[in-house]
Amino acid sequence: MDDVLVSMEGIDKSFPGVHALDNCRFELRAGEVHALVGENGAGKSTLMKILAGVYSKDAGRIVVHGREVEIHGPRAAQALGISMIHQELNLMPHLTVAQNVFIGREPRQTARAFLDENAINQATQQLFDMMRLKLDPRTKVADLTVAKQQMVEIAKALSYNSQVLIMDEPTAALTDAEIEELFTIIRQLRAKGVGIVHISHRLEELKQISDRITVMRDGRYINTVDTADISIEQIISMMVGRTIYESTPEVPENGDQETVLEVRHLQRGDELKDINFSLKKGEILGFAGLMGAGRTEVARAVFGADPVDAGEIFIQGKPVQLNSPKDAVRHGIGYLSEDRKRYGLALGMDVETNLVLASFRKFLGWLGWVDSKGTRATAEHYVEALAIKTPSLQQRVKNLSGGNQQKVVIGKWLTANTDILIFDEPTRGIDVGAKSEIYRLLNDLARQGKSIIMISSELPEILRMSHRVIVMCEGRITGELSAAEATQEAIMTLATQRTGMVEA
Ligand SMILES: Nc1ncnc2c1ncn2[C@@H]1O[C@H](COP(=O)(O)OP(=O)(O)OP(=O)(O)O)[C@@H](O)[C@H]1O
Ligand SMILES: [Mg+2]
Repeated sequence: MDDVLVSMEGIDKSFPGVHALDNCRFELRAGEVHALVGENGAGKSTLMKILAGVYSKDAGRIVVHGREVEIHGPRAAQALGISMIHQELNLMPHLTVAQNVFIGREPRQTARAFLDENAINQATQQLFDMMRLKLDPRTKVADLTVAKQQMVEIAKALSYNSQVLIMDEPTAALTDAEIEELFTIIRQLRAKGVGIVHISHRLEELKQISDRITVMRDGRYINTVDTADISIEQIISMMVGRTIYESTPEVPENGDQETVLEVRHLQRGDELKDINFSLKKGEILGFAGLMGAGRTEVARAVFGADPVDAGEIFIQGKPVQLNSPKDAVRHGIGYLSEDRKRYGLALGMDVETNLVLASFRKFLGWLGWVDSKGTRATAEHYVEALAIKTPSLQQRVKNLSGGNQQKVVIGKWLTANTDILIFDEPTRGIDVGAKSEIYRLLNDLARQGKSIIMISSELPEILRMSHRVIVMCEGRITGELSAAEATQEAIMTLATQRTGMVEA
């Protein structure tokens, strides 16, 4: 067919100890959104990285615009009109937004050798206007939320005028409103004949945005189907090779338990305005709100990661000073960050080291000897308990698939055995099967008497898991709901309750 942009056939790829792709195929047409789905570690990112020139294939054929090609490196891919937005964002935090968009090919003023800031700022502004994105091109990337960083990556890919745009989990960190914006852009591109590969674990959105779906499992191609002809249940069973039993929402009983954490009048600039809440033993306290509502800021303040202007924190009724994450860990608080690359993992280190990182002191013996038997046994236990897909404990974490990296972060805090756990977007990028495993795990922890703060942008997750829900909007707590009161509508109403309306 002449509208085929790309076809891949018989693609094979092995890494040491892992047969990542086994005889895989994929086809992308002009003007289609083609979803690529599969469980964590199925090989989605690897297959697309081969197309984007990041990895070389061991075997197979790639045909682009009817011509067989060898793609040696990302620049070669770009020359063929292929751009990829990676799952783990690749921006330089210390540079501005515009510098990131134009990195490596800044338009230069003819007479001068250095790059023209004005020109790249203007060009970036034009891209943002087209995307209807409100963002100053001169902002430092380090100051952006994950969602905004994602938008910058998209602008960067658009700036290459690509015919093939691969997006590896672009919506994982976005709110519903931001996803709508992104889909508008995707539809515009599709109308212009761009072929878009959309990798996502949010299966509901595939129905909304994709034309075709390709399913992968354990490094193998399973099937390609028209989205219109298939149900989400059918996609799931192709993905996992069995039917998953989705249990009905389970909110375990939680009576009048003692308070383990109390936060009073926490204040910081415009970000945190008079935050008051308490957390009980054995409780899962959900934090809902739109992106930027201040939920992560609360978590970081409680974890001692950011200074506050005022406020008190009590643990087991005693006032504590948490000036650093170290203080927080010493007081039994663990924080699973929303941004695993920046705060959660030592990507260059192996699985075992990462798993015991937060609890290392436990394994230090006489004269500082490390109890390596202990670390190994602990790491083995959590690899099994969380079904982390890795060839060995010595694998570097950066070589794991995105979802498996997330599991390592969770495991890291479980080994630390803290009483209070703050989970910031715990299931982002996690496949359906692993998601229900993580839910079960959170419930188990609560039943064992751990107290959990769970920040999530996914309302079904908040509703399913929380004993109580705190809703934030613009740095302020706008309401607290019991499990019985918490509905999608009640939460959304509070989440959009602007300042001024709540001022009594
Ligand atoms: N650079 C690498 N070195 C070693 N192994 C790798 C490397 N990249 C990927 N793998 C392995 O290849 C397999 C497929 O990984 P891939 O990242 O393609 O999965 P995925 O489908 O994108 O999963 P996820 O949904 O979690 O992102 C995994 O077992 C992974 O650990
Ligand atoms: Mg991936």
